[in-house]
Amino acid sequence: MPRLVVLISGNGSNLQAILDACASKSLDARVVAVVSNNPDAFGLTRARRAGVHAVLKTRDRAQDRRAYDAELAALVASYEPDYVVLAGWMRILSSAFLDRFPNRVLNLHPALPGAFPGVHAIERAFDAYQRGEITQTGVMVHLVPDEGVDSGPVLAQESVPIEPNDTIEALQARIHQVEHRLLVDTLRGLLTADR
Ligand code: GAR
Repeated sequence: MPRLVVLISGNGSNLQAILDACASKSLDARVVAVVSNNPDAFGLTRARRAGVHAVLKTRDRAQDRRAYDAELAALVASYEPDYVVLAGWMRILSSAFLDRFPNRVLNLHPALPGAFPGVHAIERAFDAYQRGEITQTGVMVHLVPDEGVDSGPVLAQESVPIEPNDTIEALQARIHQVEHRLLVDTLRGLLTADR
């Protein structure tokens, strides 16, 4: 069965979507480890509740970025993943990590390709809508070939319209719903193609 390692930094609702899909067999895969760079990430609790190895890998300030990434890569590689899923992983990974897993690292981002890379993408899209600059935002899943922020070959994307009476909370909830579905569907498609 294909093996997934999921990297998180926070709530882990997308991790939960993957865990649920594996449990219900709608995704024919197994999450073999969840790694967080943040000790307070609720996703670590979600992993433990699902009986999955939950590993905390913090970087202390003195540590060189590439040295941390090389250690992280060795840790992740020890679980022999078929894919590494960045599900709310809020650190840029250098080639010291990425070169260990060519074409095997996926990232989820709550915006359309090229739009609002980095943090607070949903809030920034909401503000751009208020200024009349955009009418829709979206979600994408892409491969991570290099250090580009939230960029790389797009595997799936879906637009999410912004409504005139939207609140940021309502928009966030709609985007997360789309994310949970799109991430699982994209993984299923990749794993099916690999068979
Ligand atoms: C998700 O919206 C994901 O797209 C975003 O972090 C959130 C994590 O939510 N990722 C990025 O912004 C990457 N630049 P979750 O912890 O509930 O899955």
